[in-house]
Amino acid sequence: MAKPGKLRLGVNIDHVATVRNARGSAYPEPVRAALLAQEAGADGITAHLREDRRHISDADIAGLMAALSVPLNFEMAATAEMQAIALRHVPHAVCIVPEKREERTTEGGLEVAREENRLAHFIAPLREAGCRVSLFIAADQRQVAAAQRIGAQVVELHTGAYCDLHAEGRLAERDAELTRLREMAEYADSLGLEVHAGHGLTYDTVGPVAAFPEVLELNIGHFLIGEAIFRGLGPAIVEMRRLMEAARG
Ligand code: PXP
Repeated sequence: MAKPGKLRLGVNIDHVATVRNARGSAYPEPVRAALLAQEAGADGITAHLREDRRHISDADIAGLMAALSVPLNFEMAATAEMQAIALRHVPHAVCIVPEKREERTTEGGLEVAREENRLAHFIAPLREAGCRVSLFIAADQRQVAAAQRIGAQVVELHTGAYCDLHAEGRLAERDAELTRLREMAEYADSLGLEVHAGHGLTYDTVGPVAAFPEVLELNIGHFLIGEAIFRGLGPAIVEMRRLMEAARG
């Protein structure tokens, strides 16, 4: 089992770009937000270049690669276009996510088990180029096992269902999902995978996930960018880190 090492926080800056793009202006600048997050203690920056470019742009990725001193976690769909972009920039990490144009956000986990062959071929050149390859999956044993078989180094467990159930007050179902997340974090770790988690996490929901000793990184965005309206981005991140560390004990 992984030692309960320091839990890293990756700050997802996609929604700074959402605000910018709402007016087609040049501001607020995602790179500036990323540098502020870095200064406030983010261990990494996460950005999702969607196929429809609804928030992060190609130029944002180039700007982040040039400006950051912490690692960039580049989220992308498993398409040839995205693979070429990743191979051009060689970010520290690539997180493969499922993507549907009509969805508001990444709704489910990646279907690794059914697409094992295709994904194995897709991630091989990314690994060879030196990217750490992560697969964003639901807490499902079939998906974890398939991720390990195809040679991913990391799985990111999708916490969206847990957070939605919490927000809807469906507490018994929330706790059952949390148990699945904990069991799958243990299982992935036992297979030698590094375990990350993220999606939908807030100050209210981060603690139980941060407490899993196998989870080494959380990726959090939408809530932090929203909270930044009230406290500023730096203080919003500092408070998230405080809650993560308190839960870690
Ligand atoms: N991890 C992954 C793989 C994601 O796709 C996202 C959303 O882009 C996040 C984490 C962050 O989710 P949120 O913005 O809801 O905190």
